[in-house]
Amino acid sequence: MKKIALWALALMMVLPARADEGMWLLPLLEKMNGKALKEAGCRLTPQEIYNINGSSLKDAIVHFGGGCTAEIISDEGLLVTNHHCGYSSIQGLSTPEHNYLMDGWWAKTRAEELKVPGLTVTFLRSMQDVTDAYDKAEDKAAYVKDAVAAAEKANPGCRAFVTSFYNKNYWYLIITRVYKDVRFVGAPPASIGKFGGETDNWMWPRHTGDFSMFRVYDDNGKPLRPARHLKISLRDLSEGDYTMILGYPGRTQRFQTADELKQMIEVNRIRIDARTVRQQIMWEAMCADPDVQLKYADKYASSANGWKKWQGEELSFGKLDIIGREQRKEAAFADWYNAKKPRAEKYGTALEDISAAVAGRDEAQKAITLLTEAPLRIELVNMAMYLARFGPEDAMEFYKDYVEEIDRKEAVALLKFYRERAQKENYPKDLGDGSDFATMEIEAYVDYLFETSALTSREKLEAALAEPDGLKNVQENDPAVKLRNALIAEARKLYPAVEGVREQYERGSKAFAAGLLEWEKGKPSYPDANSTMRLTYGHVLPYSPQDAVLYQYYTTLDGVMQKEDPSNPEFIVPEKLKKLWEAKDYGRYAAADGRLRTCFLTNNDITGGNSGSPVMDADGNLIGLAFDGNWESMSSDVMFEPQLQRCICVDIHYVLFLVDKFGGASHLIKEMDFAK
Ligand code: ARG
Repeated sequence: MKKIALWALALMMVLPARADEGMWLLPLLEKMNGKALKEAGCRLTPQEIYNINGSSLKDAIVHFGGGCTAEIISDEGLLVTNHHCGYSSIQGLSTPEHNYLMDGWWAKTRAEELKVPGLTVTFLRSMQDVTDAYDKAEDKAAYVKDAVAAAEKANPGCRAFVTSFYNKNYWYLIITRVYKDVRFVGAPPASIGKFGGETDNWMWPRHTGDFSMFRVYDDNGKPLRPARHLKISLRDLSEGDYTMILGYPGRTQRFQTADELKQMIEVNRIRIDARTVRQQIMWEAMCADPDVQLKYADKYASSANGWKKWQGEELSFGKLDIIGREQRKEAAFADWYNAKKPRAEKYGTALEDISAAVAGRDEAQKAITLLTEAPLRIELVNMAMYLARFGPEDAMEFYKDYVEEIDRKEAVALLKFYRERAQKENYPKDLGDGSDFATMEIEAYVDYLFETSALTSREKLEAALAEPDGLKNVQENDPAVKLRNALIAEARKLYPAVEGVREQYERGSKAFAAGLLEWEKGKPSYPDANSTMRLTYGHVLPYSPQDAVLYQYYTTLDGVMQKEDPSNPEFIVPEKLKKLWEAKDYGRYAAADGRLRTCFLTNNDITGGNSGSPVMDADGNLIGLAFDGNWESMSSDVMFEPQLQRCICVDIHYVLFLVDKFGGASHLIKEMDFAK
């Protein structure tokens, strides 16, 4: 372990730091990045990327469903995002008869496009620094309320909110426009859109056709005429080409201390362990039955994505000595502020405040994580929550993707896991059948739970609700509701310990970030990701994952065939794709050497939430979609690693080949604009 850390460090010393690091704030591009953007090769000015007084590149980029990014690629509201971003929508629309998820599908006409219930896309109008006004305001809540109301009045149809940056040192008023009619246009089969499954997830070399298409409709049910859409470039990429990504990175921890990071890793370990238990049960059931595979596909994928990420992060923390480097940075920071009295006064207690808060919340935070990742994942318990929150009608949706036998198995395993790992004082108290959690026979309790509860099926629940006082009865007496209440009661007991240190934590972390900014004054800086739109710019680049190994910057369809494994559901190759490959029938999407490129690498600085983001060339033309990070730099949310960190992108050539040649949806290609 130590040896690896040393070679990795040695490697990092040789090469210039900071290369292409940064998730930059759009209103500050001119000031922070104007010169660097140009030097990097960008041919657009900052105003052409972000301009609140006229249309600019950012108008083609949307927040897709809150957790991903997408981009508009036609003047009729057509958008493209990742397959894994459309996944839950596509799964939700699918049935065994119309299995859009597994079989793939393309709407042949506008009329066939399928509305996705609850799916929204959000455009960014503007963001404005309001820190001065916020700081001056006596009553912060009132200030925010008034600022939002004024902005919404001035921008009819828009939504406004105020968000903090740099650990609450800066505040921005953000104005957005939300569209609620978003329709599924098409996607390749999951065997392409998720080729490589969990095995390849977070890894290079990659061969996933990770894209899907939707269309935004306006409030009158007409395809949206967007202010801006991206043109597509089919030029072959070369190493060193300029690339930029506009998107919605979710969360990073680059302004956190070593103590916080250590706690994060420990908490994530609990999540990994609990998910290992649950995923094993889901996976076995999914492999045994295609219907179950469809029902549990999204539940499994979203669980497994974090599960693998945290394991990689834990590994990288060790290999790259993340905690040690952070500690050394903090020591140097302390030397800096201790050198001048006014600085010591402003920042001298920040690290201590954070450490004390982290220690103060440690036990409770871990206990809450155990609850939320284990017994609170029992689906029957979740059903009890839906019922309480949304009422019977909406809660019924739940049964579409529910398999009682799987949940029973999970319940046994998760309750056992919880009993083993939790402190006795956090055991649920009143389960309703008089049994004592510490000593009860868990299998017998779970049998009782599933046999007595009315929530295990739609039919049972409907029958129970049809009785006089049915809903009241279920909500007061159902054993699943009682289990939920008992678990929530334990969580409630734990919250005060976390809440109690919040003020101290926020004081410390605000001062810490402010101190770091002053320490680095004059250098361009960017705040942690917080689901606001950012720009990252960099280049197409290969990397070396380990001594003597060099990874090329792109993959081709040949590699899909090399990975094919009919005995492994993650590596099935559809017949039609093999035929096209055999015939080398790639049309205009072939590279100069006649091959079809599938994915490529850049050194853009992204994280979760950027998924689906456009990768653009120096003129802002679409060349691919970002969809993942690489295994060797899984600590990237905490520290950017210039030598190791890469962004994995699906090549637009592969995307359009799959739409056109494989999917037969050439009518969509006709909607798009191509760069000369
Ligand atoms: N790792 C990707 C991300 O977080 C998600 C990939 C989804 N694919 C999967 N096999 N689970 O953006």
